[in-house]
Amino acid sequence: MTISVSIRPVEMSDADCVQRYAADVRLHATCNLPSPYPEGGAASFIDLTLKANDAGKQFTFAVLNSGEFVGLIGLNDVHLEERTAELDYWIGFPFWNRGIATCAASLAIGYAFQSIGLQTLFSSALIRNPASLRVLEKNGFIKVGEHFYNGLWKDRFRGEMLARHRILKFEHPPNQRIECSGPCRSPHERASRRLSDDETPWHHRQRPRRLRAVDREAR
Ligand SMILES: CC(C)(COP(=O)(O)OP(=O)(O)OC[C@H]1O[C@@H](n2cnc3c(N)ncnc32)[C@H](O)[C@@H]1OP(=O)(O)O)[C@@H](O)C(=O)NCCC(=O)NCCS
Repeated sequence: MTISVSIRPVEMSDADCVQRYAADVRLHATCNLPSPYPEGGAASFIDLTLKANDAGKQFTFAVLNSGEFVGLIGLNDVHLEERTAELDYWIGFPFWNRGIATCAASLAIGYAFQSIGLQTLFSSALIRNPASLRVLEKNGFIKVGEHFYNGLWKDRFRGEMLARHRILKFEHPPNQRIECSGPCRSPHERASRRLSDDETPWHHRQRPRRLRAVDREAR
């Protein structure tokens, strides 16, 4: 089976797909999605996300396989001064174990380093989430520590062990699997149109692009 993975900025038209896959409890076991996932949760999430994306605080992408929505990946908690962000992702259950998250992460890392100019990405995964740890490992993330999760998210994960990972730009040369094709309309593009050149934040001046991984054989 071949996969053809691309990422593009999330849109409100993704809400139905997000709702369908994010409501699956198999995802809730290892990530911070609300459980049970509320009716209309996807539309509210995307609404908030588009505002945060417009403000340059995060960059949230739909993950597509052969053009079909299969998940979300985000550069969250973006600090432009420190040039850091957190990488988070989920893939809809029907599409697991095809290499899709690995490809999507590679594309998001490329976007973070090459288009936004970030220098360091962090990501955390539960130690009992080997698939996510493997996605990070395959993309060159290095484990920098382990710690207990002390958050209060719906009382889930509190006291569980998280592995903290980091990837540095200079340790991650441009990935040969990344291709870019065609401009796409995006929240970031809309933001830059509202601002004059002088006012435009530097990270908005570069036009967000649709990013596509070269097709490859999945297992
Ligand atoms: C984690 C997640 C994103 C992985 O997505 P995916 O598209 O299936 O990931 P990939 O196919 O690219 O890679 C998965 C890797 O984990 C491995 N893997 C999967 N289940 C595993 C298990 N139980 N034990 C060991 N390895 C496992 C796969 O074999 C593969 O590694 P390989 O390429 O070396 O064979 C997906 O399972 C998911 O969305 N989970 C719920 C949300 C979540 O946990 N998000 C991450 C929060 S930190």
